[in-house]
Amino acid sequence: MKKIILSKPLINVADTSNIVRKVLIENFPNEGRQTREFEKKICSFLKTKYAITTTSGTTAIFLALKANGIKNNDEVIIPNITFPATANAVAMAGGKPVLVDIDSKNILIDEKSLLKKITKKTKFVIPVHVSGRGNNIKSIINICKKKSIKVIEDAAEAFGSKYQKKFLGTFGKSGCFSFAPNKIITTGQGGVVVTNDKKIYLNLLRLKDQGRVGPTTGGEDNYISKGYNFKFSNLQSSLGLSQLKNIKWRIDKLIKIHKFYKKNINQSNKFKIIDFNLQKGEVPLWTDVYCMSRNKLFNFLKSRNVLCRYYWNPINTCLPYKSSFKSLPNSKKIQKKMMWLPSSLDMSTKEQKKVCHLINLFLKYKD
Ligand SMILES: Cc1ncc(COP(=O)(O)O)c(C=O)c1O
Repeated sequence: MKKIILSKPLINVADTSNIVRKVLIENFPNEGRQTREFEKKICSFLKTKYAITTTSGTTAIFLALKANGIKNNDEVIIPNITFPATANAVAMAGGKPVLVDIDSKNILIDEKSLLKKITKKTKFVIPVHVSGRGNNIKSIINICKKKSIKVIEDAAEAFGSKYQKKFLGTFGKSGCFSFAPNKIITTGQGGVVVTNDKKIYLNLLRLKDQGRVGPTTGGEDNYISKGYNFKFSNLQSSLGLSQLKNIKWRIDKLIKIHKFYKKNINQSNKFKIIDFNLQKGEVPLWTDVYCMSRNKLFNFLKSRNVLCRYYWNPINTCLPYKSSFKSLPNSKKIQKKMMWLPSSLDMSTKEQKKVCHLINLFLKYKD
């Protein structure tokens, strides 16, 4: 029996090959024409002025912090429940990650806890739109504006998802997306930073390419600051360009998968599906569930070829960022109780029925 896994890339091999073929004929596999086209298409889809591709979602967050002027030891508030990439990008940029608790209803930043964590040293807040679920981003930006704190959105999991009908990732000073293989579109690895601010855009361009400002003819270029090599190749862009063509279909499919789970799994106090605001445009990249017997359910499904994914351990339990749960009670409450259900773009109704049937069976007889 075929395994049903969390998420797999959906690549149109013929279409992607056609674009790759052009890259090969032009003999320019480096960042170039196709990458510019991919960035332009991202801008027009997300309705943002600038999009700067980079090597990953992690380097997107790193670059965004740098381009927005992070200084050594600046405090950067991040949620305690996120992929460690958020914390690592802050640390890599010289900042100090400060962990804020989550709201256990939506697993996103809890605003009351956020207010308590802000100090004079706080320079950035990074809300993470987990699974495509939008933080109350306008309210977070309002809180931060009053204190001259910049908001950078970690929208790694939220490409195409909206908050009150505007794309997540386009509210803050910069928004960061990932094109890793489990995302709605994938370029193998890759990421993009979007911004509406020309100065930040120019900073991003310079930082991703060795601190260079041109004229980009080679060795005699002007290098005005330190920088990195986060170029995004035309080969990667070929994958992105092809997948962007049916982004609306991808979004609809993910919504359908989530709705099917909601309709067909019996929820109770012991098992809950975390809600999305579909009316306002949120796109469920994966369906996240709270389950009191999570590990037992996970293993039950695994033994029947259904592979879910455990939620991340809270950041404060990870060795490099170890601290107590004192100000993080909600993170503690959901620790080891959450996981994602399979939500692949090519998932069939038959496969979804199987997952729902097994979960209902477990909840009725095995839990
Ligand atoms: C919430 C979140 N932030 C950041 C990242 C980092 O992205 P990447 O894996 O492309 O570096 C990811 C994941 O992949 C993520 O899920």
